Amino acid sequence: MGRACIIGAGSSGIAACQVLGARGIPFDCFESGSDVGGNWRYNNDNGMSSAYLSLHAKSSRRCLQYAALPMPDDYPDYLSHELIAKYLDNFVDHFGFRGNIQFRTEVIKAKPATGGWDVTVRQRDTGAMRTERYAALLVANGHHWDPQYPEPAFPGAETFTGEQIHSHHYRTPEPFAGKRVLVLGIGNSACDVAAECSALAARTLLAMRRGTHIVPKYLFGRPTDHLTLMRLGTRAPRRLQSLAVALLVRIAQGKVTKYGLPRPDRPMLCAPPTVSDSLLSKLDHGDIVVKPNIDQFDGDRAFFTDGSAEPVDAVIYCTGYKISFPFLDEASIGADGNHLPLYRRIVSPKLPRLYFIGLVQPIGAVMPIAEIQAEWVADLLQGRTALPPEQQMNREIARYSAATATRYGRSARHTIQVDFLAYLREISRERRMSAR
Ligand SMILES: Cc1cc2nc3c(=O)[nH]c(=O)nc-3n(C[C@H](O)[C@H](O)[C@H](O)COP(=O)(O)OP(=O)(O)OC[C@H]3O[C@@H](n4cnc5c(N)ncnc54)[C@H](O)[C@@H]3O)c2cc1C
Ligand SMILES: NC(=O)c1ccc[n+]([C@@H]2O[C@H](COP(=O)([O-])OP(=O)(O)OC[C@H]3O[C@@H](n4cnc5c(N)ncnc54)[C@H](OP(=O)(O)O)[C@@H]3O)[C@@H](O)[C@H]2O)c1
Repeated sequence: MGRACIIGAGSSGIAACQVLGARGIPFDCFESGSDVGGNWRYNNDNGMSSAYLSLHAKSSRRCLQYAALPMPDDYPDYLSHELIAKYLDNFVDHFGFRGNIQFRTEVIKAKPATGGWDVTVRQRDTGAMRTERYAALLVANGHHWDPQYPEPAFPGAETFTGEQIHSHHYRTPEPFAGKRVLVLGIGNSACDVAAECSALAARTLLAMRRGTHIVPKYLFGRPTDHLTLMRLGTRAPRRLQSLAVALLVRIAQGKVTKYGLPRPDRPMLCAPPTVSDSLLSKLDHGDIVVKPNIDQFDGDRAFFTDGSAEPVDAVIYCTGYKISFPFLDEASIGADGNHLPLYRRIVSPKLPRLYFIGLVQPIGAVMPIAEIQAEWVADLLQGRTALPPEQQMNREIARYSAATATRYGRSARHTIQVDFLAYLREISRERRMSAR
């Protein structure tokens, strides 16, 4: 069979390399950076990693590990970015496919062509470009590298006298020592960044436009995300799961409103949970002050939607990321405001032989998901299974979009959400059914 092209050697791309290699499917993998690991390589020379120096995964080891290579038992429950990058390096060396990855090589264009895809790459050191035809294209370029700033910007932002950065560019708290810092958002970036800045900053404000559930890293001595691995529990109706998790979290730490946070506006599991052990204690100690959304800036002052105002030296926008494919004609795949019509979150019904790996936001972890997605793509490439007709794929996409909008609300932040075990089961079922 023809050669496949894999874009990216982050945790999703290398999962695809391993699977295709094991199935004997020839492939080339192109990676902009000098190493594997993508987001998990701190200061990655691809310029795309959002890792900060203190970053530890919010997913526990059991959730993060690939089925093909479980993590060593002496690894901690919650890994640092260094340890994850080391694990990903070991993964590549264990399966011996480093030689199939062309490093410092960026894919700048991928175009549908007869029998596959024409892929144009540029070697970063020499600038040399070349185009080759591939039988299939697996896109694993990540979706946490293109910062989403508030759009439109808050009034007065362009003349605000303080510094403004996005969490994508945040590395350490030292530059904010002694400063009055305003962190915007209540996702995982905002909580990590606010908690660590508050140790050095003169004052730390945490502003948000809605409340959310804050989930501790441990419940009753076990990593909280082990709940997502419970076979029976995850088959229960979602409302029941939501109530059960909410109750456990309430017993463990009380209501978030007790700490000064706004009441979450959606039930538990109907928004990506923010996982933090430090935020609530920082709030309780008065080290972080909660504010509603920013209304506008004037000079060095931030005004909030409740009419209050504070002088601020730096704003850190922890406002998430855009999903981007600079090398694809996004209009042709129908991408619009983070909405991507993909069958089972992988296959473009419009563009044959185009597959997306790791383009999901799980309540759980991405790596084992990328692995099973790649297995299904390998089935398709080897002709062991076939796709349903386009109409049927479109119906599944419409069902997924409607269910996601009902559960999470209509927001660009929630367009690729999946439940960990349920999604793994869904892809396994798809593999079985389509094989029949
Ligand atoms: C701060 C932070 C913490 C996170 N914590 C967790 C967590 O605890 N658990 C979890 O499951 N997820 C977490 N995530 C999500 C994270 O994105 C995934 O864990 C994982 O990194 C996704 O891997 P990936 O390979 O899909 O993307 P990436 O890690 O972003 O890798 C993409 C790779 O593609 C390469 N690439 C991109 N474009 C091109 C191109 N045009 N040509 C060639 N190469 C290209 C990049 O150089 C990069 O190496 C976190 C994200 C952030 C930002
Ligand atoms: N330790 C860790 O493992 C860790 C650390 C950091 C990040 N991550 C992961 O990285 C990914 C990105 O996380 P993230 O926290 O950077 O982004 P995120 O989860 O998308 O959260 C963005 C936050 O910014 C808010 N926001 C967006 N636009 C806004 C605007 N214009 N005005 C006011 N508020 C706005 C959002 O509010 P709305 O909900 O209202 O849109 C949300 O609270 C997630 O998968 C996360 O789990 C993990």
